[in-house]
Amino acid sequence: MRRKLAAGNWKMNGTAASLGEIDALKQAFPAPGCEILICPPATLIHRMSERATGSAVMVGGQDCHWQETGAHTGDISAGMLKDAGASHVILGHSERRADHHETDAIVRAKAEAARARGLVAIICCGESLETREGGETLAHVGRQIAGSLPDGCTGTNTVVAYEPIWAIGTGKVPTLAEIGEVHDFIRAELVARFGPGAGNDIRLLYGGSVKPVNAAEIFGVANVDGALVGGASLKAGDFGGIVAALENA
Ligand code: PGA
Repeated sequence: MRRKLAAGNWKMNGTAASLGEIDALKQAFPAPGCEILICPPATLIHRMSERATGSAVMVGGQDCHWQETGAHTGDISAGMLKDAGASHVILGHSERRADHHETDAIVRAKAEAARARGLVAIICCGESLETREGGETLAHVGRQIAGSLPDGCTGTNTVVAYEPIWAIGTGKVPTLAEIGEVHDFIRAELVARFGPGAGNDIRLLYGGSVKPVNAAEIFGVANVDGALVGGASLKAGDFGGIVAALENA
């Protein structure tokens, strides 16, 4: 049984004033029926992890460098995230692939660095609208998975997030059949590469305009083990609605 995961990606949003959202989540879910993770901007990781101590809320980073230390101004290593209290790190989000020219090879190197430091890597994939309309979605996602996941992925060191780029922050969501098709495909790819044990243990999150109002139906799709949530994770009220839907899925 794969334990469900509700992951919030705050992106470049949030200051100390937002830390109260963690208190609200702690209060609302003292013993949640799924895992709860918030990935705030790096500036908040340490404070948020202290605030979350003793609760079920976990804290993660949104990126890490592939090297542990060195001359990389502005970057943060996996060990630094761990030191600040993070347990997870999002890698290869489409915004980083676009804004920072991250390739599959770079994402893979980052995933290896994360694993070496004991962080769970949440590795993202997903197609553009052009790719979908060209009928290339599965081929594209298959290439991203093959190139971005290091060898030796298991259910404890890796989570995969499928996020169609055209659904991120747009309010547009694929049909349930489209989500199911991609998730079934990713599951088959993982089983083929990592074997039935690890391949079936790795959790698959859907991401892209998940809201309290559409969460339950998305969580009803086979091979959807949770969500990676952007906009609707910023407020504990909205995110709590998604967590509750996942608990009941
Ligand atoms: P969204 O973002 O929920 O705001 O669409 C999802 C993501 O980019 O992780």
